[in-house]
Amino acid sequence: MDDNEAPRKRPLRSARWFRKDDLPGFVHRSTLAAAGWSREDLMTRPVIGILNTWSDINPCNLNLRALAEDVRTGILEAGGIPLEIPLMSLSENIIKPSSFPFRNLLAMEVEETLRAHPFDAVVLLGGCDKTQPALLMGAASARVPFIFLASGPATPRSATGGQLANATGVWRLVDQLRAGQTQCDFAAFERSVMGTVGHCAEMGTASSMSAICEALGVALPGSSMVPATDRRRNQLARETGRRSVRLAAEGGPRPEEILDVRAFDNAITLLCAVGGSTNCIIHLLALAGRVGVPLTLERFDEIGRRVPLIANVQPAGEHLTERLMTAGGVPALLKTLEPLLHLDARTVDGRTIGEIIESAQVLDPEVIRPLDKPVKPGETLVVVKGNLAPDGAVMKACAADSKLFRHRGRAVVFEDVQSVADRIDDPTLGIDENSVLILRNAGPVGAAMPEWGMLPLPRRLLERGVRDMLRISDARMSGTAYGAAVLHVSPEAAVGGPLALVRDGDIIELDVAERRLQLCVDPEELERRHRAWQPPARVHARGYRRLYDQHVEQAHRGCDFDFLRGADAETLPEGLFDGWVGGW
Ligand code: FES
Repeated sequence: MDDNEAPRKRPLRSARWFRKDDLPGFVHRSTLAAAGWSREDLMTRPVIGILNTWSDINPCNLNLRALAEDVRTGILEAGGIPLEIPLMSLSENIIKPSSFPFRNLLAMEVEETLRAHPFDAVVLLGGCDKTQPALLMGAASARVPFIFLASGPATPRSATGGQLANATGVWRLVDQLRAGQTQCDFAAFERSVMGTVGHCAEMGTASSMSAICEALGVALPGSSMVPATDRRRNQLARETGRRSVRLAAEGGPRPEEILDVRAFDNAITLLCAVGGSTNCIIHLLALAGRVGVPLTLERFDEIGRRVPLIANVQPAGEHLTERLMTAGGVPALLKTLEPLLHLDARTVDGRTIGEIIESAQVLDPEVIRPLDKPVKPGETLVVVKGNLAPDGAVMKACAADSKLFRHRGRAVVFEDVQSVADRIDDPTLGIDENSVLILRNAGPVGAAMPEWGMLPLPRRLLERGVRDMLRISDARMSGTAYGAAVLHVSPEAAVGGPLALVRDGDIIELDVAERRLQLCVDPEELERRHRAWQPPARVHARGYRRLYDQHVEQAHRGCDFDFLRGADAETLPEGLFDGWVGGW
């Protein structure tokens, strides 16, 4: 394609690097001559970045190296210049203490990489949980047109005995193991659980974020649920590459032209309909902050009240994401949700959401249910507030035992996760099935908010058949997990939130219908405890984690850095520094 013929709304960014007959233009062109690009190429064709989070240590993203080649082919076919840049990769299961704090670091890397380089558009390649929101956040801040492609879900295999080996299966197995009720061959399970490349294949955080990318309008329709090992994903990669050249040639739509209030409403609607990960609430809040959309926790609850669980997918339902794909994928889900969506929302596809779903069909109503025959009754994600969580907390109601939705019990408090590990089976704590397990100091400042919110149940209760209890924390929970876990309590204990004031034996009340979470202690007593409270010592004296501790926001604002919110006032002004050449 000759980009000069394309209807372009804005000049190409890359023209500032390559299309001037001056010394900087000479230097920039000659630099890329070493990569095989001619003066004519650079002066006539749009430049497309491929930002890749492939890594040997991240099997969820392991196929992205091959997919990048298909993206590259698509870009070349459409007349663009593909330039791939490797980024840090965040492996959920490997990084200690948690991959979560590095979401913001990767987002900064993406933003600055885009800002500093001559890209007219960019293809973002992500997979494992945190790589996806980080890519979106960084690209949204850089205001460069982008299109996202996920690595795709893995294809879980059966371990011995026909037991399906996937992440949700691991959680169930751990409970069975602690209850002494499994004959599982753990070595076989261990070999099978990450049996193929690709991200988690239930509606965990990665699949939820991939699906959300379609609803936000930043990924090609139907792209999210195709397995990582399916050759159709390679075709999607080529198509994504071709589409990115159109984005460059047409000058957009740019991120802020897609990511508006309508897009976030649509994304939240889809998240609720699939019973998606609570982590996505944090990621969407952070992304909205990057583009100036005033999204709040309350909006999740408002939308959640009218959206039932229609995707019969684990952990809230039965199947894996591959069944969702064969049932029609996200376009069919959106078709079912049509009366609840903003159909005029724009997408990178060039069409509106309404135009995209015109021809979509549900091919398997057992997997994608009609709105009036949901997988389970009631809301999927709820936001609760009260004197224990003044700024809110969240709960994945569709993956919890509804008997606990109205609950009153005595608190058993754990100061940190080590204390849980050391004491959860201690019979002297007197934990029974009505107790409320509290974990604190696990919030964004306290411990960079790891996925510790699904606290293990005491062994002797598991042996008696208890499978769910009310658990409350300022931590997060894996999207593949389940249980009556009230998460993201805000403000967190480490900054003096009321969670820090709970003592063993205090009565706690949860009422999901009323959206209420209450610490039933006399206000004067709470005031006395608050005056006596001392903040935990900060442990990071230097480096990124010190920056993180100082600037991370609370969960109800998305845990982004305070200095990264809002529209960017620092964008390099057109022309400034264009005449300056470094290195020579
Ligand atoms: Fe990477 Fe689940 S561990 S997506």
